[in-house]
Amino acid sequence: MKTMKIAPSILSADFANLERDVKLVEELGADYIHIDIMDGQFVPNITMGPNVVAALRSKTKLTLDVHMMVDLPERFIEDFANAGSDIITIHQEATPHLHGALQKIKNTGTKAGVVINPGTSVETIKNVLHLVDQVLIMTVNPGFGGQSFLPECLEKVKELVRLREKMNLDFDIEVDGGVDDMTIGLCKQAGANVFVAGSYVYGAKSPKESMNKLQAAVN
Ligand code: DX5
Ligand code: ZN
Repeated sequence: MKTMKIAPSILSADFANLERDVKLVEELGADYIHIDIMDGQFVPNITMGPNVVAALRSKTKLTLDVHMMVDLPERFIEDFANAGSDIITIHQEATPHLHGALQKIKNTGTKAGVVINPGTSVETIKNVLHLVDQVLIMTVNPGFGGQSFLPECLEKVKELVRLREKMNLDFDIEVDGGVDDMTIGLCKQAGANVFVAGSYVYGAKSPKESMNKLQAAVN
């Protein structure tokens, strides 16, 4: 069985205190730091760029899991790799050159991930699965934290598990959006092993209690 990993999303952290908030979840046993890059084009919101990733790189040893919600992400792959990203995940919907863009990520020595929106089928990424270390299934429409979990996306997690076995591959399956102490169990049951949580951790009165509950639900 794959190792279960919790990936707090700093989208819901205090942007004026990112170092503090990253160290907080590091101490609480987070496995990854999930960093949401939004360009105001692919999604109707703007967040941060490679300089923020580089700044965080010097503050934490945790895996930096960079989720690029950016049109034509191939334009910025080298910048995010040089900034110290460990995993760069790009949207199937964001480039007509998905295969080439994933190869570009791999050529930098960074792990490569592909992600699909709730309206996109697993079929559309079948031909690149052999290239990736991680597949991210969005469980909300991307752009904002704090949205409700879309249970219909779980079917795609199950489909991916079957495909992974059939194609004899080894990628991780990550879920992102609306993950809390209840929905995380459904995601695990479906076959996911990397769980992004933003508002459930950083929006909570006690992030510690939230992290404990997430960890207890999957381990
Ligand atoms: C949404 C982002 C998510 C976001 C999740 O577009 O990709 O990573 O931070 O936030 P929650 O966990 O609050 O749904
Ligand atoms: Zn994300």
